Amino acid sequence: MSDLAVRLEAPNGQSWVQPTGLFINNEFVKSVKGASLESIDPATGKTIVLVQAASAEDVDIAVKAAQKALKSGPWKTMPAADRGILMSKLADKIEQKASLFATIDAWDNGKTYAEALATDLVEAVSVIRYYSGWCDKVSGQTVNLPNKLALTVRQPIGVIGQIIPWNYPLSMATWKLGPALACGNTVVLKPAEQTPLSILVLAELVKEVGFPPGVINVVNGYGRDAGSALAGHPLVDKIAFTGSTSTARVIMKQAAETLKNITLETGGKSPLVVFDDADFEQAIKWSHMGIMSNQGQICTATSRILVQENIYDKFVKAFIEEVKQTSKVGSQWDEATYQGPQVSEVQLERVMAMIEEGRKQGATIAHGGSRIDTPGFFVEPTVFTDVTSKMSIWHEEIFGPVAVIRKFTTEEEAIELANESSYGLGSAVFTTNLERALRVSAEIEAGMVWINSSQDCDTHVPFGGVKQSGIGRELGEAGLDAYSQIKAVHINMGTKL
Ligand code: NAI
Ligand code: MG
Repeated sequence: MSDLAVRLEAPNGQSWVQPTGLFINNEFVKSVKGASLESIDPATGKTIVLVQAASAEDVDIAVKAAQKALKSGPWKTMPAADRGILMSKLADKIEQKASLFATIDAWDNGKTYAEALATDLVEAVSVIRYYSGWCDKVSGQTVNLPNKLALTVRQPIGVIGQIIPWNYPLSMATWKLGPALACGNTVVLKPAEQTPLSILVLAELVKEVGFPPGVINVVNGYGRDAGSALAGHPLVDKIAFTGSTSTARVIMKQAAETLKNITLETGGKSPLVVFDDADFEQAIKWSHMGIMSNQGQICTATSRILVQENIYDKFVKAFIEEVKQTSKVGSQWDEATYQGPQVSEVQLERVMAMIEEGRKQGATIAHGGSRIDTPGFFVEPTVFTDVTSKMSIWHEEIFGPVAVIRKFTTEEEAIELANESSYGLGSAVFTTNLERALRVSAEIEAGMVWINSSQDCDTHVPFGGVKQSGIGRELGEAGLDAYSQIKAVHINMGTKL
């Protein structure tokens, strides 16, 4: 075993050889400065392993490798269908190792193993498989004009810098890699410093299935070092980012220096509106899942629940009952666990600070509200009522298992409150009145609307936000637009000056 690989055994007994290097040019390498970062198990606070952390020098080496792979060599000349075959093989390999990937992400992130396997892994495989099919179907148009023929060619954007968050580590990597590779780009991907492990195992598979060196490079590292170096690198043609709105602003500024193409998927404070004619049981089930699943660490979490006046009291009671019945807090490995630890101590402290602010500003804690007194980063699932527009818990993304519930009277008021946000990512409407559902979904300022559900996400359907929730779309056919550019070719037919 090289000194850039370590045998690990997770608490569920699964054992594997974990690469710990930076992945550049299909090789695991040490960082130039020998810097490292710690992967931590949030259920215990203990270190799992150290991995290499990239500095600006490492990022520069990775970007140059990606540029070389883009400009010359097998990736450039490879028939698109063969690219598709490589991607399809990668999807198969991820699927074969699904339980290993679920173990790694559960350990590193704190999400339950069951959830990682059922959600993250299914999504990761499906995204790579879906985009593998697009490789040889990305084409241009011909435009017939008098005395002229014009055609368009869809070309890759170039070297793509991808910066991803920790809430769905492997799955976020595949959302970014899938469309980028399908369109023929090359990539330098920076995972989040909290969850560096699963992507390194993915990198092993990248090499194993036969991607040429330099096409996919992985540089773990801190945002301020590796992330910033990538966002500012002059040879990077595009930055695709998922994370907080504040970091997105910094990245956008850096990208502006060389006018990079950007896709940003940022924060949210998504509303879920329950009308009095809704199927009550369904509304309770989905509104619970919409904020409490994945420890509330979801950009699209429906964290603001708006309930029509005449069913409000009944709803609050039933919602709290659902939290008590369903949101069992515990370790990632226990099958009965619904909610694992928050990803890090920093995140737990952010959540606790937001809860404290809600309390101070006069909201009622109807359920939960405390850190759980045990090792690891656990918080009680929390429900706020008596929330007003002045409170920070109404406006700010908490990114934890914290719901705010508020009353409305009319449809107009519901829309007004739903739109009272600088964000516009997801939204949900519960009603059995089809006309109302469509009317409200037309008026809600959001990139996505779920009618009688929450958190639907499908490889085939575009995903993204409006307002300060982001720029551009991922997934579906729309995801290809983010990673290809159109070149127009005019052919003079020779009969006109
Ligand atoms: P973050 O936005 O700072 O981190 C996301 C990614 O950006 C990580 O890979 C990080 O290393 C990188 N990054 C950080 N600073 C950078 C910089 N200056 N240049 C380039 N890359 C940089 O988010 P963080 O600190 O992990 O979480 C803070 C809050 O962000 C959360 O409480 C939550 O509200 C939000 N968030 C939203 C996510 C989403 O899915 N939309 C995911 C993660 C966090
Ligand atoms: Mg970790």
